[in-house]
Amino acid sequence: MQDDFFKYQAQTSPQPLAMEISHAKGSYIYDKSGKAYLDFVAGVSACSLGHSHPKVVDAVKAQLDQYLHVMVYGEYIQEPALELSKLLAKHLPNPLESTYLVNSGTEAIEGSLKLARRYTERSEIIAAKNAYHGNTMGSLSLMDYEERKAPFLPLIPDVKHIAFNSEVDLEQITNKTAAVILETIQGGAGFIEPQNNYLQKVQKRCNDVGAVFILDEIQPGIGRTGKLFGFENYNCQPDIVVTGKGLGGGLPIGAFTASKDMMLSLSDNPKFGHITTFGGNPVIAAAALATLKEITESSLIKDTLEKEKLIREHLNHKHIKEIRGKGLMLAAIVENAEIANNVILKAQDEGLILFWLLFETKAIRITPPLTISNEEIIKGCKIITSILDNI
Ligand SMILES: Cc1ncc(COP(=O)(O)O)c(C=O)c1O
Repeated sequence: MQDDFFKYQAQTSPQPLAMEISHAKGSYIYDKSGKAYLDFVAGVSACSLGHSHPKVVDAVKAQLDQYLHVMVYGEYIQEPALELSKLLAKHLPNPLESTYLVNSGTEAIEGSLKLARRYTERSEIIAAKNAYHGNTMGSLSLMDYEERKAPFLPLIPDVKHIAFNSEVDLEQITNKTAAVILETIQGGAGFIEPQNNYLQKVQKRCNDVGAVFILDEIQPGIGRTGKLFGFENYNCQPDIVVTGKGLGGGLPIGAFTASKDMMLSLSDNPKFGHITTFGGNPVIAAAALATLKEITESSLIKDTLEKEKLIREHLNHKHIKEIRGKGLMLAAIVENAEIANNVILKAQDEGLILFWLLFETKAIRITPPLTISNEEIIKGCKIITSILDNI
């Protein structure tokens, strides 16, 4: 399949890993030769319940027998999308109760930016340096890496950048600002947590100047950091919360949730202020509903903190300078990019899937399924430390 893969499928980099997948179950992915790989990445934080979780598969199968796509988002009442939105509202603090379902994380970010501009009737968007919010034009505009944006200019205007965790920079948020958008924990930057009630201070500043506070929970959200939503760890509450990745349990989804009052502004003047054909698709929504139920009705969220401890304990190694992040959103930081790269590639040979972070080249991503067992954690950590022993 290799030749055809390079010929017929668009590539995202000159050297993709190009593993030929046979099937995947639980914490393991199997290649065409029958080799099993323990998955410490979970499809980049997406397969929250591991691979092909029976409850997700059953929900999808049941929905397949009822109906597939019947109408664009927002016109008909389709039970899976409705129940998913209700369950999100049940678990979010007031007034976050109205959810718009879309097809991917970046699309949810686009929707949240449009909602903030429409609601405030202002245009300025403030994002953080080193942020990653996706790759469509609006999301890309939020990135401050000029060399990555340069080939795609011009992007959307009126975007400014502040330093994450800088209180001084909060002064740049003014009554001209439509929205401040931040990742709750910065992902691509190296799993950087907010410090000293930073997010609470951003929320206050936004309230003071009438700006909308958007938190991107696409990676930390849905149970990965010891709470259902990452922001619950940091004494704050956004006006719009954006989710994706792990919400789908392995299927493509994005969602942005706001107050009913704010969300209403997208549906009128202009009518159809935001529309999507497949957003809220019944099969995807059924999978997400099953995923969210399983995560909120089991001990998985609480267990992430115990699993974090186990990983930290078993990744105690002289080449690991620091382990950043929270719960099962962790990054082992080694001395340099070459070591990180070697470990990631060598681990794949040894049957362990690891991955890079987008901007922090010294990082080794550890974001396994929330369902990973303690034995599997210890097994994976041993593979990492034995590779590091030989460096
Ligand atoms: C924090 C964050 N925001 C947005 C996105 C974009 O999501 P998607 O790839 O589903 O468009 C990602 C994906 O990596 C992400 O990690």
